[in-house]
Amino acid sequence: MSVTMSVPVHFPVLVEEAIKALDVQPGGRYIDCTLGGGGHAAAILERSSPGGQLLGIDADPEAVQTARERLEAYGDSSLLVNDNFVNLQAIGYRHDFLPVHGILFDLGLSSLQLDSVSRGFSFQRKAPLDMRFSPDQTLTADDIVNTYPESELADLIRNYGEEGRSRRIARKIVQERPVKNTLELARLVEQVIGIRKKGIHPATKTFQALRIAVNQELECLELALKQAVDLLGFEGRLVVISYHSLEDRIVKQFMQRESRDCICPPEAPTCVCGHKASLRLINKKVITPSAVEVQVNPRSRSARLRAAERIINEDEQYRVIEGLCSSTEVNANVWRRPTLLNKIRQAYLAA
Ligand SMILES: C[S@@+](CC[C@H](N)C(=O)[O-])C[C@H]1O[C@@H](n2cnc3c(N)ncnc32)[C@H](O)[C@@H]1O
Repeated sequence: MSVTMSVPVHFPVLVEEAIKALDVQPGGRYIDCTLGGGGHAAAILERSSPGGQLLGIDADPEAVQTARERLEAYGDSSLLVNDNFVNLQAIGYRHDFLPVHGILFDLGLSSLQLDSVSRGFSFQRKAPLDMRFSPDQTLTADDIVNTYPESELADLIRNYGEEGRSRRIARKIVQERPVKNTLELARLVEQVIGIRKKGIHPATKTFQALRIAVNQELECLELALKQAVDLLGFEGRLVVISYHSLEDRIVKQFMQRESRDCICPPEAPTCVCGHKASLRLINKKVITPSAVEVQVNPRSRSARLRAAERIINEDEQYRVIEGLCSSTEVNANVWRRPTLLNKIRQAYLAA
């Protein structure tokens, strides 16, 4: 495939690994919470054919439009929604799209957004300090850079960018306000840190921090992960690809906590939390791109994939089976293993 420089493209990351972790099956029902350019969505639709269905979500209306064009060939097997995945559960209910066999999050931003001349995500292109995923959001990077008190700005750069020189960067920004665009901001950070010959650009961490703050990325992720578990059918899969340690830590801790029956502090003599596991970890070790993928698509280098499978504890089994038994038509097909579900149902009826 030849790609001209003028047409931005997004190469989906860890596609085969994501499809395998989702265990995509013909006729399955999946949610892609981060449509982007539609690369993962297309692969899911391809593998779930015939009969597969996909609900795709993206906060960015431009991404939804790009994905819509890309997925046109799959006809009405996909339903695309312009919304924030923090509303995942409401979206699933509104479109009567649950339970599902798999949910994918491919976090962060796409190359289409990074390479856009107007969105302000890149420190290599002159653009207004915007960085919003959706034009409906009110807070922009400009508001943060040009109005936040110095100490708040420093904390933000430190916490969301893991930038050791956050105080000096914040001081410089405040001294030089107003900062008019991305290139001006990148230059100020360079003046504090110095230009490196090798490794990442000095402004990388500051830009990451601003983007995370503008889009409340960590808060949205935490809230959406909890909702995702509730939308998954029995043995449904949750797959998350993250690109920096802050989001990966959230995913790792969430999956670990949800895969334990008790989350009391280790010093507690007996369990008082009553927590029941809702997930089983699929890959104990995080999955990263191969050397070949990184060579072909250097932007994939920081990707980390984690996956878990929905399990149903005893209390939930009874609730589910009660629901199934009280409905006239037992539609167990939406669960990954209807035969097993039917066995549980038989046992419940016999008890
Ligand atoms: C890495 S890209 C996804 C690329 C996609 N998997 C593909 O194959 O083309 C991440 C996408 O997630 C979207 N996104 C990030 N946070 C979001 C959120 N909280 N709600 C909805 N979409 C979000 C971004 O707008 C972006 O388009």
